[in-house]
Amino acid sequence: MTASEPFVPPPYPYDRLDELKQVAAAAPGGIVDLSIGTPCDPPPDFVVEALARSGAERGYPASIGSPAYREAAAGWLARRLGVTVDPSAVAACVGTKELVAGIPQWLRLRNPSRDTVLYPAISYPTYAMGATLAGCRAVPFRHLDDIDPADAERALCLWVNVPSNPTGDLDDLGAAAAWGRERGIPVLSDECYVEFTWDGPPRTILEHGTEGVIALHSLSKRSNLAGARAGFYAGDADLVHYLSEVRKHAGFMVPGPVQAAGVAAWNDDAHVDEQRERYRRRLELMIEALAGIGVDVGLPQGAFYLWAPAPDGDAWALTRLLAAKGGALVSPGEFYGPDGAGHVRVAAVQPDDRIALVAERLGAARS
Ligand SMILES: Cc1ncc(COP(=O)(O)O)c(C=O)c1O
Repeated sequence: MTASEPFVPPPYPYDRLDELKQVAAAAPGGIVDLSIGTPCDPPPDFVVEALARSGAERGYPASIGSPAYREAAAGWLARRLGVTVDPSAVAACVGTKELVAGIPQWLRLRNPSRDTVLYPAISYPTYAMGATLAGCRAVPFRHLDDIDPADAERALCLWVNVPSNPTGDLDDLGAAAAWGRERGIPVLSDECYVEFTWDGPPRTILEHGTEGVIALHSLSKRSNLAGARAGFYAGDADLVHYLSEVRKHAGFMVPGPVQAAGVAAWNDDAHVDEQRERYRRRLELMIEALAGIGVDVGLPQGAFYLWAPAPDGDAWALTRLLAAKGGALVSPGEFYGPDGAGHVRVAAVQPDDRIALVAERLGAARS
């Protein structure tokens, strides 16, 4: 796209699965949808109670988040991730996707001489889309060392995502923070799966200091609140202040009742520990089911996706096979960038009995 061409939104990746959705739905017992990383388990009752009884419906909520919301978020950062961030350097977002999609345009307003967003070559598609929506260049990188200095000179920001969607990998956040600081480029660290880290302790870029970095966190996955839309960003005080001021003008607000529910959710860890066990078990069941058809994939370092190599490298063929024989819908890896074309992403977001059904169907198709 050049500046003079009108923007035509590309097809939404998951809409491209509509045909295979029908195929999977035809399986006896129905479709097992493992394509989108949407939670299937309920949020805790006390969180829903807080949502219902906040009394916060009437007035406008603070765009930056209520003091209680920001304190709860800062308390969670200290308790779960061992980092101290003053609540004044924490701000609410309406789930993190809108922030991921919006940040490039706001950074560009602040630094109009720059026009490039750097993001991991295999990643959540919204990093690149945020660049496009800001009229910027979206430039993927495989390793920090491979980034062309000419692209770095034009960069508004660099994205990292640990644990990664879709690969589960835990990249070196200290190296990313140092890379950004050396060049004066903000590093934005999307950490929405942090409590589903399987390989060692959870990690945040904020362990490496807050200067020049922002961490993004979400209640969608940890507390099964994707439908409520609540997250926060925290880190470099100047950057958080700038973004929260712009966002106040634009009217981004987490609804008051949702903020109240968010306080209850950020203040509790027991429900997340239970959720961890569920995802861990589902991942293991799915690993076994895939092994049965010769697809060899191990437990990821983090998150709740299996990044499975397709036999012969044909991800669409594996996607079709899983739909036709297993009644399961998964995502071909090209949704996460051209480098992902040889893999499929399997989201372990269905109950055990549904995953067992997929294994059973695949087993029956083999015999
Ligand atoms: C890597 C990553 N970042 C951000 C999001 C957005 O989550 P939410 O907007 O619900 O906070 C997702 C959702 O799947 C994701 O996988």
